[in-house]
Amino acid sequence: MTLTETEEVRERLQEELDASKNIDTRRLLGQFATPPTLANEIVETTLPFLSPESGLKILEPSAGTGSFISACLQNFGERVSSVTALEFDRDFFKAGKRLWASFPVEYRNVDFTTTEPDVLFDLVVANPPYVRHHGLETERKRQLQQSVLSETRITISGLAGLYCHFMLLSLKWMKPGALGVWLIPAEWMSVNYGEAVRSFLSRNVRLLRIHRFDSHDVRFSDALVSSCVVWFRNDSPGESAAFTHGMSLRRPDSSTIISLSHLGIKNKWPPPEASDRPLPKVRLKDFFTIRRGIATGDNTFFVLSESEVEARQLAPEFLKPILPSPRYLKTDHVLSDDQGLPLNTPRLFLLDCTGQKLETLPSEVRDYLHEGEKTTAAKKLCAARKNWFDQEQRLPAPFLCSYMGRGNGVDAPVRFILNESKAIATNSFLMLYPKASLRVLLQTHPENLSHVWNLLREIPAEEFRRTGRCYGGGLQKMEPRELGELDCSHLLEWLNHTTDFRYAEEAATGQLLLVMENTETISASS
Ligand SMILES: C[S@@+](CC[C@H](N)C(=O)[O-])C[C@H]1O[C@@H](n2cnc3c(N)ncnc32)[C@H](O)[C@@H]1O
Repeated sequence: MTLTETEEVRERLQEELDASKNIDTRRLLGQFATPPTLANEIVETTLPFLSPESGLKILEPSAGTGSFISACLQNFGERVSSVTALEFDRDFFKAGKRLWASFPVEYRNVDFTTTEPDVLFDLVVANPPYVRHHGLETERKRQLQQSVLSETRITISGLAGLYCHFMLLSLKWMKPGALGVWLIPAEWMSVNYGEAVRSFLSRNVRLLRIHRFDSHDVRFSDALVSSCVVWFRNDSPGESAAFTHGMSLRRPDSSTIISLSHLGIKNKWPPPEASDRPLPKVRLKDFFTIRRGIATGDNTFFVLSESEVEARQLAPEFLKPILPSPRYLKTDHVLSDDQGLPLNTPRLFLLDCTGQKLETLPSEVRDYLHEGEKTTAAKKLCAARKNWFDQEQRLPAPFLCSYMGRGNGVDAPVRFILNESKAIATNSFLMLYPKASLRVLLQTHPENLSHVWNLLREIPAEEFRRTGRCYGGGLQKMEPRELGELDCSHLLEWLNHTTDFRYAEEAATGQLLLVMENTETISASS
């Protein structure tokens, strides 16, 4: 069975198992499965926190039929080396074991809270049982409190629900640097028994993000609790964490970065005043210098194909790789060979003899330029130059945007291109150069290039309508200044959620600063 077929069977199986048990039995074991769309959204939102390496070992400590197993296999694909699924209920265990038998998934019929790890994991992803403390027998509660104390040095209240014990006990299963992702009730954020969880998240691990779903959005109709998702790393505590809120994990209604010292463990999370302080509005121009591609004056003369260059034996020092216009560029991800030449586009070269004297040029180049003297040299742009064959100078840019396009009304009307090659571009593109802070991030962590590219492609069509110009027939043009005005709060949000880099607003100036832990801060607009 394919993964899609397996997921279809799983959903049917889940319904059958739920229907076969009465609600009281389900409550005793907290058997409320994660809807597949929510599991997928959670796992997708986890991607930016994960290192790009493959060989991921995943633990699902309360697996049920495996809605997170399915979401992980769908989203991480080949990167998953194994999933270990623990499940206490025999029916769910048997169903899961059979269902996932042909995948790298091992089901174990154990109680997570009394099992010792025999191996450590890179990712723990869980929707643990929500069993209230009244549902836990006195002796079990005492054992759970004892285990939590010896693992974390935290005294947990007898009023804490089982999900709290689950999360705190998960740390011993995690490799150093491993990621924990927990879909849990949001109650711990505001009640006294939640102090143990607040303490754990501020002192035992590095809290990355907490997303609280809208209280009207009861995802688990049968469990009737409002939920949150917590991301943390098995690492020393950081200084701040992101708090988001709303129906969507990808596009929250509000986002705030709150320092842990401001949070405290005795108070409600987030403190009331913090939730009113949204992230500053940021524009594309806060992250990128945007320049139009070059106007050659005559593309048919100055831009040559690889075969023309070879036939004319033009010297490589006067040639720069240049991308075809958007119409002929069939990919949005330009790959590069080891010399920086595009791999998956037609190879074109710009003849660039800027600042040279004609008589000093190699004869092949000189002969070619002679051919253009009567035609190209007389064209308006060329005629206005000191040397008619001089060209504007541009460095290759990692991101490009087509200057105009027609959208479908939902997606961006223009194309964002990820350019791994050293090719520059003509003025049918806008070139996006990351500013100092983002540039450092992308240079030191190039794996983030594709994340940033995806975030650019997520800018909704209405933003382009707001800042750009729309012509008859839905044609939309974006000038560099208009592109710079696009709202990029989601990029800021993503940066805030990556572990080592934080954008923060400098209190005194209101300026955006990129803070890289253990280094000095760099201004976003430098
Ligand atoms: C809230 S459900 C989540 C199931 C699944 N992870 C999902 O997201 O759909 C919790 C699951 O944990 C199982 N469970 C309850 N107590 C457990 C324990 N002590 N150890 C392992 N699994 C347990 C329940 O049988 C149930 O299948």
